[in-house]
Amino acid sequence: MRKQKVIIIGSGLAAHVVASKLIASSHVVMITKRNYEDNNSIKAQGGIAAALAPDDSWYEHYQDTLAAGVHYNEKKAVKYLTREGIRQMNLLIKQLPVDKDFQGNIDLGKEGAHKHRRIIHLGGDQTGKHVMAYYQNLVQGKIDIIENQTAVECIIEDGRCSGMLTIDQEDHFHFHFADHVVLATGGCGAIYEATSNDPSITGDGIAIAYRAGAVITDMEFIQFHPTMIKGGNGLISEAVRGEGALLVDQQLRPIMAEYHPDKDLAPRDIVARAIFTEEQKGNSIFLQINQIRNFRERFPQITSLCEKSHIDLKLGLIPVTPCAHFLMGGVKVNVSGETAVPGLYAVGEVARTGVHGANRLASNSLLEAIVFGDMLAYKISTSKNLSSLSSNSNKQAADTYPFELPAIKELRRKMTKYAGIERCEDQLQDMKRWLESYINGLAELRNMTRKQIETSHMLRTAYLITTSAILRKSSVGAHYRIDSSSNTPAEPIELQKNMTEGVL
Ligand code: SIN
Repeated sequence: MRKQKVIIIGSGLAAHVVASKLIASSHVVMITKRNYEDNNSIKAQGGIAAALAPDDSWYEHYQDTLAAGVHYNEKKAVKYLTREGIRQMNLLIKQLPVDKDFQGNIDLGKEGAHKHRRIIHLGGDQTGKHVMAYYQNLVQGKIDIIENQTAVECIIEDGRCSGMLTIDQEDHFHFHFADHVVLATGGCGAIYEATSNDPSITGDGIAIAYRAGAVITDMEFIQFHPTMIKGGNGLISEAVRGEGALLVDQQLRPIMAEYHPDKDLAPRDIVARAIFTEEQKGNSIFLQINQIRNFRERFPQITSLCEKSHIDLKLGLIPVTPCAHFLMGGVKVNVSGETAVPGLYAVGEVARTGVHGANRLASNSLLEAIVFGDMLAYKISTSKNLSSLSSNSNKQAADTYPFELPAIKELRRKMTKYAGIERCEDQLQDMKRWLESYINGLAELRNMTRKQIETSHMLRTAYLITTSAILRKSSVGAHYRIDSSSNTPAEPIELQKNMTEGVL
């Protein structure tokens, strides 16, 4: 019997966990939109959360995840993440050079809304780089890697996803057929002006899954990270506050006491909104770091990012501002990563398992990739080969798309202003109308160039965020409506093709 063929779209941690576990059973093809190294996981600073400390337990990690997520989480998925997370991390730390303290114990870090020290980190603040190197090494030479092809749309045959259409830099289309197609494309941070995400993370997987008929859930829940370097480039990990840094204004007044009893270690949505509110009042916000004795050794990546941004760390103040960071919603999947479309799976940030609720707990995202990546690989490796694998074929893209598309810069500016940290009905409706004026002519992608296709993925994703934000009238977690004091119990907001008045 032939080995089953699995296509994975994306090259971050979730993609690699799935690939590494399928090597024996499958022919894996990983397709990335830019270069192999262009992904969010590689930049991850903080670490991986797991209840490994003797005084900690999966149940306390579970409770912290629910509290940060405003109890809107899928409890079964959170239980699986936090219990299985311990098992997976106990296996992984045997393979990885995790940071240890002077006694040789794992040096567990602290981050916002965690009641315990439970953040496993590597190379100080270079967790993503080290974890990715480990997985990249596992798959090296054992899978096919195709770079610089943007995923366009699922190939659907007899109601099943049997492959992916992609387009390369010369605007040639490629048909890739497979038994299973995995979306591991990350979220959509790059449709906002300020983001911690790689510029290639533009919601492609969400737009593609939506067009294929998958259910897209809770797109209004966009997490804004509180501390991106203002006027520079790069994130300042929450672990910096975990080690004692304080958010202060230009008068060196600590700002967080008036916003939450946990002050600088409050849940991320609350800290991001507090900074946003202070900025609206005309204040500038800084991370005061002189309390941290060994800053350069503990945070080498952040030190380098600050130096590149010409920040003098001897002064002990890093200017910060919130930025788009993580999507809690996405393509609805069960714990095995299955979408509503047979043959199509999603894993990592693009997937909505419900683990993060309305606001993700810090350092749960790499854990999610490891735990649910493993589960998805198991699902695929125990499935039957269902496609009759047609052979690949290429054709030149016809550049005949007649409509003008907006500049991406303008889309990002508008999303930041109208569907950003604070939202209200009028502005969301304005945003929706603006998006509709472009989206109405977007049905067919096969007559577009790569640039046009990428813009259309961004427009569709922006439209799904905006529509969901309009539908959720009350404020919950990261979705903050300034025009509503409603306490409507939170129910999932699900969008599926033909439910958005035919616009998409
Ligand atoms: C951080 O280190 O603050 C970012 C990591 C995360 O988003 O969990």
